[in-house]
Amino acid sequence: MPRDRTPLIQKIAQQASLSFKDCLSEDNGDHKPLPDQHEQLLSLVNALRAADLKLAPRKSGSRPGTDGAQNPPVTYMHICETPVFSMGVFLLRSGASIPLHDHPGMNGMLKVLYGKVSVRCFDKLDSEDVPSLCRSMLRCVSEYSPSSTPCLLTPQRDNLHQIQALGGPAAFLDILAPPYDPDNNRDCHYYRVLQPSATSSEAPERPEETWLLEIPQPEEFWCGGQVYSGPPVTV
Ligand SMILES: [Fe+2]
Repeated sequence: MPRDRTPLIQKIAQQASLSFKDCLSEDNGDHKPLPDQHEQLLSLVNALRAADLKLAPRKSGSRPGTDGAQNPPVTYMHICETPVFSMGVFLLRSGASIPLHDHPGMNGMLKVLYGKVSVRCFDKLDSEDVPSLCRSMLRCVSEYSPSSTPCLLTPQRDNLHQIQALGGPAAFLDILAPPYDPDNNRDCHYYRVLQPSATSSEAPERPEETWLLEIPQPEEFWCGGQVYSGPPVTV
């Protein structure tokens, strides 16, 4: 039998198309992926390693200006996007952080490829109509490395998160379904935690209710672009 030479990232793209294909249908109000297909996607993503994308941690200072202030703290390597899902890799410099943000009506899957990240996840709770303020629940603070299973989010659960590189540079694959789309109420919003109890880097013993203030994109955070040089992906 001929060996299957399809690159793992191509298999992941094909499987993501299947898993999330009904997320936008009108009778799927919760935007849920198809359970069996989603299990298969999880297991493919779980097996992904940096080498599958020809990706290696960038050494600090290996290129002139690599760590200069003019370089973005975070870069995004776009792999593919369809109306169903988007997929790419975020690369974080040592100590860099992606500020707390949301993914309205979206599912997400995050798989660390190198380094280690801390992810703080919040749920939005129903709240009175106060502009720019939302009641939320700090669900967890967890660390992920290449040996960890993917970190998941849904429209209802763990939909807001803050991601910080720990102890050096880090990179993770990011799949979002459906993709961000400001024309369809799926814009990215940034938040600041108002109550100090939820700013700790420690995981809470139980879910903690807190208030979040919507803020403009923080000045210290911006995201540059980087060309993807892994195996070609077609969807
Ligand atoms: Fe995110």
